Amino acid sequence: MLHVSKVARVPGGPVRLLSRFYSAPTLKETFGAQVPRLADEVRSFKKEHGKTVIDHVTLEQAYGGMRGIKSMVWEGSVLDPEEGIRFRGLTIPEVKKKLPLSAGGEPLPEGLFWLLLTGEIPSEEQVRQLSADLAARSELPEHVSATLDQLPRDLHPMAQFSIAVTALESESKFAKAYARGVNKSEYWDYTFEDSLDLLGKLPLIASKIYRNVFKDGKLGKVDLTADYGANLSSLLGFANEDFVDLMRLYLTIHSDHEGGNVSAHTTHLVGSALSSPYLSLAAGLNGLAGPLHGRANQEVLEWLFKLRDAVGGDYSRSTIEKYLWDTLNSGRVIPGYGHAVLRKTDPRYTAQREFAQRHFPDYELFKLVSTIYEVAPGVLTKHGKTKNPWPNVDSHSGVLLQYYGLTEASFYTVLFGVSRAFGVLPQLITDRAVGMSIERPKSFSTEKYRQLVALCEKR
Ligand SMILES: CC(C)(COP(=O)(O)OP(=O)(O)OC[C@H]1O[C@@H](n2cnc3c(N)ncnc32)[C@H](O)[C@@H]1OP(=O)(O)O)[C@@H](O)C(=O)NCCC(=O)NCCS
Repeated sequence: MLHVSKVARVPGGPVRLLSRFYSAPTLKETFGAQVPRLADEVRSFKKEHGKTVIDHVTLEQAYGGMRGIKSMVWEGSVLDPEEGIRFRGLTIPEVKKKLPLSAGGEPLPEGLFWLLLTGEIPSEEQVRQLSADLAARSELPEHVSATLDQLPRDLHPMAQFSIAVTALESESKFAKAYARGVNKSEYWDYTFEDSLDLLGKLPLIASKIYRNVFKDGKLGKVDLTADYGANLSSLLGFANEDFVDLMRLYLTIHSDHEGGNVSAHTTHLVGSALSSPYLSLAAGLNGLAGPLHGRANQEVLEWLFKLRDAVGGDYSRSTIEKYLWDTLNSGRVIPGYGHAVLRKTDPRYTAQREFAQRHFPDYELFKLVSTIYEVAPGVLTKHGKTKNPWPNVDSHSGVLLQYYGLTEASFYTVLFGVSRAFGVLPQLITDRAVGMSIERPKSFSTEKYRQLVALCEKR
């Protein structure tokens, strides 16, 4: 077993933990109290309006990645094409106003998790309580540590991440309860426990991968009195308080982006078969590892470095414009630009840009990213293919990590994956609380679609 530190730090800022009894309701008590009403609401909503037509589907959508078809339920967030993400109705700036913040003014992923699951704003005490709960669940079983130690160093960090989360299935309380034949009404409870256990263990898994692949393999200990972002940072080997704040912001804004994206949808889909949260999240992580999805943050950095080498210090708009055209003309995408839903600059990009402006406005790579932001939308618009010429979240995240010395780009999607768990697990718990069905859309062969299209066009 990996050990966690028993030494308490001196309580300090708003996110330091005090060893005392908590009086406010816990997250589980808060959500548990909502469950009967939630399940009832969904039941009666379906009963009253179940036959109402809410969308129509074109052939183009069937072949086009089911883009835009309204057919999923996702409580935590809704994505507006123009405005971007709202977490339980709150924009990112509103989240920063309402959720308890760190001393450096950044939101904590624990607070966001509470908001996503319950729709309620937790108090500082409740966030501290949740931080302590997650830290207390952090130990890794020996076989997971040993598995990670045995993996080849050149196996991509995301593959290692997925293997470790899958191996944690041995700990699943849900799987054991299911095998015992537990009543359906209790599924959410075991899913909740697994989800918190899993979240608690992710910092050690991610850091172990990082330290094994890129450093000396040595790992620090979890501090039971520190919040999630602080523990993740120190386990990775970063002590700078601004970096810790970056981690808190990063983990908060990468968490949830409604349900249809590959990682969220996959987690939900696999979970709908009543696979445990471990197996469901591992499946989602495998999707996040794709270059058109989460791995775009790695691609952006690699592309930026090639650009830097190619232009030899000339960051003029005309040189960058030429490099953008060269990328497009060689049949590649501009990584970090475009989006399946968004049609404006991603507010997660803006939040990261503002962080850079506050902390290191003169950093060379930040200036380069800013110039690309001035030039790329025009080039992509002229190119005329993408429906959205604006930057997405992945366009900025790597540069922030580079500044603080986390330079290994192939690790970046692992951090995205840790954050994504904060968004997809609340929905998995909710799915079990309201008894969502196993997912099973209808597919046709092209031949069958030809017959259907002929029939529809005759009408
Ligand atoms: C995110 C992404 C996968 C969305 O795909 P999508 O919903 O199919 O996007 P669109 O409908 O705008 O695509 C229409 C065309 O524009 C192209 N396009 C989209 N974004 C592009 C980009 N950044 N650079 C060049 N071409 C792009 C698509 O490849 C597609 O070309 P095709 O017709 O030859 O297949 C796409 O924008 C992309 O590949 N972006 C770069 C990777 C990235 O940043 N991913 C992270 C997303 S958060």
